[in-house]
Amino acid sequence: MRHFLSIKDFTKNELLEMIELAQKIKIQTKKREFVPYLEHQTLGMIFEKSSTRTRVSFETGIYQLGGVGLFLSSNDIQLGRGEPMKDTARVISRMVDMVMIRTFEQSKIDEFAKYSKVPVINGLTDSYHPVQIMTDYLTMLECGITNPVVAYVGDGNNIAHSWLMLSAKLGFELRVATPKGYECDDEVVSTALEFAKESGANITFSHDPKEAVKGADVVTTDTWVSMGQEDEKEVRLKAFNGYIVDNNLMALAQDGAIFLHCLPAYRGYEVSEEVFEAHADEIFLEAENRLHAQKGIMVWLDNHRDEDIDE
Ligand code: CP
Ligand code: NVA
Repeated sequence: MRHFLSIKDFTKNELLEMIELAQKIKIQTKKREFVPYLEHQTLGMIFEKSSTRTRVSFETGIYQLGGVGLFLSSNDIQLGRGEPMKDTARVISRMVDMVMIRTFEQSKIDEFAKYSKVPVINGLTDSYHPVQIMTDYLTMLECGITNPVVAYVGDGNNIAHSWLMLSAKLGFELRVATPKGYECDDEVVSTALEFAKESGANITFSHDPKEAVKGADVVTTDTWVSMGQEDEKEVRLKAFNGYIVDNNLMALAQDGAIFLHCLPAYRGYEVSEEVFEAHADEIFLEAENRLHAQKGIMVWLDNHRDEDIDE
């Protein structure tokens, strides 16, 4: 049995298999052919943080695959009142067929997975957002970009870490520009650079958004204040001064470059209104693709269940 906790746990081929499944199921869905790949399966969806896209896409996705989603807000289940993650895992995974969790520390989802009898999917932690980055890759392919130079401008956060792992595994060029003090995590960087040696990915870091964006095919960013960092807002907004993706910055990218944003977007901070609206087609295709990419991931995980796991 495999869990989907981080891109780093998969080979390039495995990641591409998931993307191919997503593409196939997307075509079927567009033709209103709802193939019940996960018939009668239940997806438990545990949320310790807010969500629009992750909740709607997983719930709709599992339904369209023939199953049902259970929305479990930590405010409403005993987890929120202190029931341990490992007990929650041992209970829920005896009843449902797959679990998606959005939580804080990566160690919490790792612990859930350790005690789970069913595949666990990371729907965002403080460290990673792997389903988002698979979606971004699918979106780039649909925009006709196959071997991109990607520029990530902004916070060295869960989204940046997931870009690092994807680039390192698939072998495309990634340039990360963060303000001083907001760089990516050292351990994540060194793991990614190890994988990059194998894949040949050229990954570079700077404190210069212009240098990162010059000639890039894909420019991307994320909020400067992630969920759980609300108290740091004032300090962060000052530190990120100069990191807005605006028309001046986009002008340095390749002609026809796309702009991606995982959303929600804060206009006037990490992205200007003009850039956002000029690239709305790509951004909302990316949002829709959460539905399709995650179906590919769920079906792939279902195909890789260890058959003798049930005692
Ligand atoms: N991009 C993303 O994960 O959005 P939500 O927080 O709305 O789920
Ligand atoms: N970095 C953001 C992503 C939101 C989808 C956060 O963690 O809040």
